[in-house]
Amino acid sequence: MILVTGAGGTVGREVVQALQREGLRFRAAYHTEEKAAKARGSGLDAVTVDFAKPDSLRPALRGVSKLFLLSAATPDLAEQEMGVVEQAKQAGVGHLVKISVWRASEEEFTFARWHRSSEKAIQASGVPFTFLRPNSFMQNLSTYYAQSIRATRTIALPAGHAKESCIDVRDIASVAARVFSETTHFGHAYDLSGPESLSYHQVANTLSVALGRKITYVDVSDEEFSRGMRGSGAPPWLTDAILEMQHYAKRGQAADVLGSVQQILGRRPLSLDRFARDYSNAFL
Ligand SMILES: NC(=O)c1ccc[n+]([C@@H]2O[C@H](COP(=O)([O-])OP(=O)(O)OC[C@H]3O[C@@H](n4cnc5c(N)ncnc54)[C@H](OP(=O)(O)O)[C@@H]3O)[C@@H](O)[C@H]2O)c1
Repeated sequence: MILVTGAGGTVGREVVQALQREGLRFRAAYHTEEKAAKARGSGLDAVTVDFAKPDSLRPALRGVSKLFLLSAATPDLAEQEMGVVEQAKQAGVGHLVKISVWRASEEEFTFARWHRSSEKAIQASGVPFTFLRPNSFMQNLSTYYAQSIRATRTIALPAGHAKESCIDVRDIASVAARVFSETTHFGHAYDLSGPESLSYHQVANTLSVALGRKITYVDVSDEEFSRGMRGSGAPPWLTDAILEMQHYAKRGQAADVLGSVQQILGRRPLSLDRFARDYSNAFL
């Protein structure tokens, strides 16, 4: 039995579907009680957990042998995940698959440092693990930028001409399901990319073709971006962490196209064109 944390989020929702496709037994763990109730209503084995209260994991981990660990990217990520790992160890979990971030091992930006700190604790815990380190999600477009794309037909980011090999979260979910099915992935960390490295000008062009309407990328300054984030109520640490990632990408460090998804799944990762067509309703 696999416990899927973050089951109500962008990646977790897809992991639930991938495990269902693979016919693997799982329990879905939500933070929001209404989401857990809805999932139970649709026939899932669903529970609520709160990483800030590690004891809440104890009933959720009953009968569980594998754990999919996903946390929201917040400053207490490492501390909360350490609490979860302690509970998992006590429950005798035999394989922990953690969602980390691109090149976490290099600790070059804040999100990478938070995730690496948690990875180190997992390695020290002795629980067999696999780390999945995806590049930026294609779904950031539908989650965070769709409203602006619908309203103004623009994507405004301080990304310059930086290229990123963004990945579709459906591929991350398929990789997670495969990794749970095979013991060969114990002790491995996989950086995961999409099939191509694109600038936001190219992203906007791909969306334009798929949606049949012109979408334009607007390269905004760091100051303009920060002002917009402040206006939307985002905490300063989040603005700083995103800007840091943009600078990282501008140095060309998020551009590599890797073969890991192909190696694990035996097929090419999904393209941005495919993503844009499948998610077109979010942008129209
Ligand atoms: N976005 C990117 O481009 C990107 C790239 C690489 C790596 N990542 C990593 O991916 C992760 C985010 O994945 P995502 O986009 O799927 O996240 P998400 O959609 O924001 O979902 C986060 C999940 O965490 C759950 N949660 C929130 N607080 C919790 C708590 N106190 N205890 C237990 N669960 C809690 C939420 O549960 P409910 O839904 O029930 O409320 C939600 O399902 C982060 O670790 C991030 O660093 C992101």
